[in-house]
Amino acid sequence: MTQLISTPALVVDLDIFEANVAAMESMLRDSGKTLRPHVKTHRTPELAKRQLGGSARGVTCATVGEAEAMVAAGIDDVVIANEVVDEGKLARVADLARRAKVTIAADHPDAVRTLGGQAKTRGVTLGVLIDVDVLLHRCGVASIEEAVALATAIERTPGVRLAGLMGYEGRVRLSVENRSKKIAGAYRILKDARDALIQAGHEVPVVSAAGTSTLRESIADPTITEIQAGVYCLMEPELLVMDLPFKCATSVRGTVISRHADRVVVDVGRRVVGLEYGPPIPVGVHATKVSVSDEHATVTLDGTAPPRLGSRFDFIPGQIRTTFNLHDRVWIGRGDEIVDCWPVTARGSSQ
Ligand SMILES: Cc1ncc(COP(=O)(O)O)c(C=O)c1O
Repeated sequence: MTQLISTPALVVDLDIFEANVAAMESMLRDSGKTLRPHVKTHRTPELAKRQLGGSARGVTCATVGEAEAMVAAGIDDVVIANEVVDEGKLARVADLARRAKVTIAADHPDAVRTLGGQAKTRGVTLGVLIDVDVLLHRCGVASIEEAVALATAIERTPGVRLAGLMGYEGRVRLSVENRSKKIAGAYRILKDARDALIQAGHEVPVVSAAGTSTLRESIADPTITEIQAGVYCLMEPELLVMDLPFKCATSVRGTVISRHADRVVVDVGRRVVGLEYGPPIPVGVHATKVSVSDEHATVTLDGTAPPRLGSRFDFIPGQIRTTFNLHDRVWIGRGDEIVDCWPVTARGSSQ
């Protein structure tokens, strides 16, 4: 396949992606834990399928649309690790359960009852993970009492079954004060909730948590059974300080469209690269500054000769999820060669 892809273009180095997936598998091997890769990272079924096998039997999704795209691509086990409360969407979730094993998070009995009603009319059963607020103070039940009450509501609702617990601690960066204590505290909440549920007579086969930033802690913790890490497969530059065995696999490829003595302008603007974690990192040059506008990245160089006009110029994006969501397709490379092109099928599927 021609390497002269039109720019700006999203590119994944499949060699690095596969090495990241293999590195995750060797971290988890013998841990007794399951990996459930979070595919919000790339919304791309062809990448998701290549994360499965070994410790990973199904995927985690953030939205119903993501789950639909994954099931349509043949993935038969999905968790929606997010609250869904409206009847229309819960009907779609129940529809999905005709074709795949579907589990969804909940923090309120109303959502469980609505889901149960939709499941019953279709003759399907869905798993429900009780979402526990462990650190983020976003969704999730706020107390053990609420968790126990929700477990009882789930057990009493036809069409659903209690699958276990989940609690997402968020991205816990190395710079977070009392980091280890905070992560241990989050897992302690999950342990206490699990013990209380078991005490109340419920089975809790799954305790799902963690992202790439808390991977080591979650592997070491005896309560966590399932890990929802996502970005490990493509890696973000800000996580490279964490001494994890993953490398950055994604770039946004541009073209030098204007060349000056001290800077070049590349056709990679904020319409094609996520900036929440800072500007994209230019590859192969020493830059003193990168500023990004809608369609342009202006790269000021530190003495290096500016690349020639019309040459290709790669950036490593800081924020993978937003970057993928800005592209219809991802080009697949191995080293310097482009070998394939896959649709970012669930791009824009936030509903
Ligand atoms: C609920 C949930 N679990 C897991 C993850 C995965 O985290 P990461 O992509 O940092 O590995 C996310 C990411 O935002 C998430 O929202």
